[in-house]
Amino acid sequence: MGVTSRFARLLLAAVVAATGAVAAGVAQAGAEERIVGGSLANIEDYGYTVYLSTQDGFQYCGGTLVSQDKVVTAAHCSAGKAASEILVVGGREDKDSVEGTVSPVRGIWVHPGFTDIRSGADISVLTLATPMPYDTAPLATPDDTPLYRPGVVGVILGWGRTAADGAVSPQLRRASVPLVADTSCQQAYPSFLPASMVCAGLPQGGIDTCQGDSGGPLTVSGVLVGVTSWGEGCAEPNRPGVYTRVAAYADELAAQI
Ligand code: ARG
Repeated sequence: MGVTSRFARLLLAAVVAATGAVAAGVAQAGAEERIVGGSLANIEDYGYTVYLSTQDGFQYCGGTLVSQDKVVTAAHCSAGKAASEILVVGGREDKDSVEGTVSPVRGIWVHPGFTDIRSGADISVLTLATPMPYDTAPLATPDDTPLYRPGVVGVILGWGRTAADGAVSPQLRRASVPLVADTSCQQAYPSFLPASMVCAGLPQGGIDTCQGDSGGPLTVSGVLVGVTSWGEGCAEPNRPGVYTRVAAYADELAAQI
């Protein structure tokens, strides 16, 4: 994708934000109080969205297909695990269905700097044994600073909890959240590290990723800018979601992909 078309799509995202798409999202979250994540999504529209499951079929994290056999996820979803413990499921919207592709994992790369979610480097690349025929998402690079501007609207996707104390979703869900300025995120979380993390959410809360969404995508204009990592509670006011800043790891990711 050329820089020009990325910029055009970014403008579109900004215009959508200005015309009230975020306000509409808030109204919806208010009307259905327990929803953290907006609405049902079609896997055809977000083919790059995959999930990680145990061999028993328990979905515990999300991921993003970035090439036919590489998935970007969070380090805390894969660190300390053997490849044989993880299955990657692509092309499946409903976890109770058998649609799509289930692939064993052939290799796990965990960022060597990863220790725990609050210290950054929460990023990992899985190599699939079975390539997947779905859309892939391009990775953000240091040239993509416009995609990280505060107020730019990102899309979050996953099968995680629909309330902080609720159950995970059987169906893929999506929501739109504006990116938050590093200075405000620093105020929300003293442990926020702007060089390796980026925040997204509304000051009043109501829309957020939650447990089970980790490892999944935060995209802006279809570009992977963040990986769901952590947050205090889910969708709480002044507690935005924290995402691994993908552009900060562009070189290391490129070497794996
Ligand atoms: N750590 C969580 C997971 O493993 C993701 C939490 C995201 N939390 C948030 N408030 N955005 O699924």
